[in-house]
This record gives sequence, structure tokens and C-alpha cells, in this order.
Amino acid sequence: MKVMIIGGTGLLGKALVREWSGDDVLALGSRDVDIRQAARVWEIVQGERPQWIVLAAAYTDVDGCESDPQRAFAVNRDGPANVAEAAKTFGAKLLFLSSDYVFDGKKASPYETGDPRNPQGVYGRSKAEAEVRLLDILPEVCIARTSWLFGTGGKCFPDTILKLAATRPALDVVDDQRGCPTYTVDLARGIIGLCRKDATGIVHVTNSGDCTWFEFACEIIKSLRLETEVRPVSSQQMARPAPRPAYSVLAATSLRRYGIEMPSWKDGLRRYLEERTP
Ligand SMILES: NC(=O)c1ccc[n+]([C@@H]2O[C@H](COP(=O)([O-])OP(=O)(O)OC[C@H]3O[C@@H](n4cnc5c(N)ncnc54)[C@H](OP(=O)(O)O)[C@@H]3O)[C@@H](O)[C@H]2O)c1
Repeated sequence: MKVMIIGGTGLLGKALVREWSGDDVLALGSRDVDIRQAARVWEIVQGERPQWIVLAAAYTDVDGCESDPQRAFAVNRDGPANVAEAAKTFGAKLLFLSSDYVFDGKKASPYETGDPRNPQGVYGRSKAEAEVRLLDILPEVCIARTSWLFGTGGKCFPDTILKLAATRPALDVVDDQRGCPTYTVDLARGIIGLCRKDATGIVHVTNSGDCTWFEFACEIIKSLRLETEVRPVSSQQMARPAPRPAYSVLAATSLRRYGIEMPSWKDGLRRYLEERTP
């Protein structure tokens, strides 16, 4: 099978490249193809003729999206539409990465794939609008929503916590946002499984279990037996430009339909910390 990973230089893209074996995988960064340029997208899909395209490219700076909505919608909504048009024309299957931020966070139980989208910020809106466009262009698209990624090869929450813990005796971490931290290695394996099963429709793919950012930070500090104190604070105390959902736990029901089970986030974190500090 020939697979094209667009966004192959990102946090998830690098894990996909490492984990994907037995198929012919071509990983592309923004220098190879800028998805905002329809003609270039068309050219590369026509030239390579992949059976699957995994679209992991995005403008992922959630706060940056608030100050540059034009870029957010161009990269996160219009770019994916260009890729979907090319996939449709050249008969490629498409798996698109989306986000828990398409939800408003007002639910108190895990979000199912059919729950209504109601994004709160520009990033979430750009992803939600991309989902709608893609389902229209290519109804058999697979949309894999995920959340709170961590892994090697880029900036991520555990990395930030460990850098701060190295220089500060105490850290303030938000305790009123709950979600599912997801190890890029486990997500990559889930995505590969979905492609091999010819998945279509919306699927939620995260590690199992959930926590707040504060609980996540405590687990990181505890795992490495560090002395740093972690203090819970509210989102209001740590004001950021983009609103974040208070609750964005994604239900695993849709993934189980494909016979795929994800490890717990604590297990993922343990393996990440081992990988990071061998
Ligand atoms: N990170 C999270 O916590 C999180 C949570 C939920 C969903 N997601 C989704 O999961 C996917 C992967 O996220 P990630 O954290 O791996 O992203 P990332 O590390 O920020 O990497 C972004 C990737 O997109 C590429 N890219 C950016 N602009 C592009 C453009 N105009 N044309 C083509 N490629 C472009 C980058 O290429 P270069 O590096 O070569 O410029 C890079 O490969 C994204 O769709 C994201 O929205 C992420």
C-alpha cells in the first residue's frame, strides 16, 4: 500500500513515520507541499498516486489562531479541502486529523462522534468547518479526532513541565480543563489500524482515561520522583488568548467498532518518559 503523510514533519507525523512498517510511506512537510496551494497539492497527489493520504498538517498554535484567523482557516480548513478534492480526483482514501476543540466542553460525560460541534475559538472553528467541508467533498473520508498530544520530536506538555521543574520549586497548573492526554506513538498505531481497516466516518482516537492539566503535571512529577510542588489554579488565573473547553473527553465507542483498544494515558506517559530519558 502506498501512503502519503502530509504533516509528516510534525509531532504526530514523526511518530507515524516511525511506527508505520510494511507499506510504502512518503512523509511530506510544508516545504514539500503547502496545502494552501491547490495546484501543488493536485500535482503531488497526481504524481504519487497514494492509496491513503493521512492529513496531519495543521496550524496548531491555538492562541496564534486567535490573532491570525486568516492563516488558521487557510491552513486548517481550506488546505484540507484542497487535499480532499485531489484525493477524490485521484481515488485516494483520506484520513484527516481533527480535534476535541470542535466541542464547547459543556458536557459532563464523554463526547460521542455524533454530538453537535460548537467550537469556542478560532482553531476549533477552523477544524469544525474543515470536518463539514471534507464530509461534503469526500463522504467516505475518515475523520480521526484526537486530543492533548505528547511525544518526542516537538513541543509538548510533559516536556514543558520538565523544563520548568528543572528551574522552579513550584508550578501553577490549570485544574479546570479535563481531557484525554494522548501519546503520539499510540495515536499513530491507532491511525495505522484505521487505514488498514478502511475506516470511514468520524472516529475518536485518544488514550483511555482522562485528567486535568494539573493531574497530568502531578503524574509527570511523581513518575520522575521530582521534588517540584504542583499547585492547582483556574483557567481564569492563567488567562490565555483562546478559550479552551472545560471538558473535552472523547468517548472510545467509535474506535472499538474497529476492534481497536487504546492504552491508558498513564501507560503512554510512562513509555514516553522512558523514550525521552533512556
Ligand atoms: N497537538 C495536539 O495536542 C493536537 C490535539 C488535537 C488534534 N491535533 C491535530 O493533530 C494533527 C497533528 O498535530 P501535531 O501536534 O503533530 O502538529 P505539529 O507538530 O504542529 O505539526 C504540524 C505539521 O503541519 C505541517 N504544516 C503546517 N502548515 C502547513 C501547510 N500550510 N502546508 C503543509 N503542511 C503544513 C507542518 O510542517 P512543517 O513542520 O514542515 O512546517 C508539520 O508537519 C493536526 O491536525 C492537529 O490539528 C493535535
